[in-house]
Amino acid sequence: RIVEVVKTPVIEEDGTVSGILGIFTDITERKIAEAKLRAFTTKLEKSNRELQDFAYIASHDLQEPLRKIVVFGERLRNRCIDKLTDDEKFYLDRMHEAGRRMQTLINDLLTFSRVTTQAHPFVPINLKNVIREVLIDLEMRIEQTKGKIEVGDMPVIEADQLQIRQLFQNLIGNSLKFHKLDVPPVINITSRILSSAQLNKPGDTEWCEIIVKDNGIGFDPKYAERVFQMFFRLHNRTTYEGTGMGLAICKKIVERHNGEISAESTPGVGTTFRILLPVKQERDEGENTQ
Ligand SMILES: Nc1ncnc2c1ncn2[C@@H]1O[C@H](COP(=O)(O)OP(=O)(O)OP(=O)(O)O)[C@@H](O)[C@H]1O
Ligand SMILES: [Mg+2]
Repeated sequence: RIVEVVKTPVIEEDGTVSGILGIFTDITERKIAEAKLRAFTTKLEKSNRELQDFAYIASHDLQEPLRKIVVFGERLRNRCIDKLTDDEKFYLDRMHEAGRRMQTLINDLLTFSRVTTQAHPFVPINLKNVIREVLIDLEMRIEQTKGKIEVGDMPVIEADQLQIRQLFQNLIGNSLKFHKLDVPPVINITSRILSSAQLNKPGDTEWCEIIVKDNGIGFDPKYAERVFQMFFRLHNRTTYEGTGMGLAICKKIVERHNGEISAESTPGVGTTFRILLPVKQERDEGENTQ
């Protein structure tokens, strides 16, 4: 058995030491529990790594054969177009379309796994600038939808600039996509700084709360957590294109930044995303680039 001993001298009033007091505690159980926890953590880390490697290798290695299928399918169609019946052309087109779609799915899966495999260290970034860049990228879509985007004051936080850009690209992209027919999208982006105490969290970290609010078609609030799952989509694919990976990528990015993301929505009224990110990151974190 393992015993922990705490010893203290017994000192008399005149200052002489008359003995030693010892407290013996049997800590065998605690030591066993600690060892079990350590073994479990190691196992968990290993399986996590394996899963990540799998996602990366699978998506990466699947790209090449799929590219061949798509390219040779195209060639076949071009060569034989005159000899094919309408039915045969239809089948070939369906195959081609499915191949294309699979390419998009695989690319999105690769983007998802790259959040951890191709991460950059956290550096101070100006959120306002990042959002400005995203709005330039989305310029065409904003014009097409006659969208309005209002951006409030934004702080500087420690983060991976490319990933935060990806985060806003997905969120703003969604708000532009899922707008109500005949109602131009209005997107409101605001932020404020909150202390751990204000958020009922332990420690004394400063947090940046970001709210992205739209006036779009919304969704049933019972799906508020499920929308972050991989490949989860609520709306018709032919009307609203996409693979359902955007929010899963957003969640992974926020979690890598030690933050949180949640959604609230009312059908026919709009959707609000709330993101919490630490203003400063703990040292050494985020340096898990492989
Ligand atoms: N702002 C929003 N308003 C209404 N519904 C939304 C909004 N954002 C997300 N959703 C719903 O959540 C689903 C998941 O969103 P996500 O961004 O992951 O996928 P996507 O936009 O369909 O595809 P992708 O982002 O991969 O192109 C969407 O298909 C849609 O049904
Ligand atoms: Mg999306």
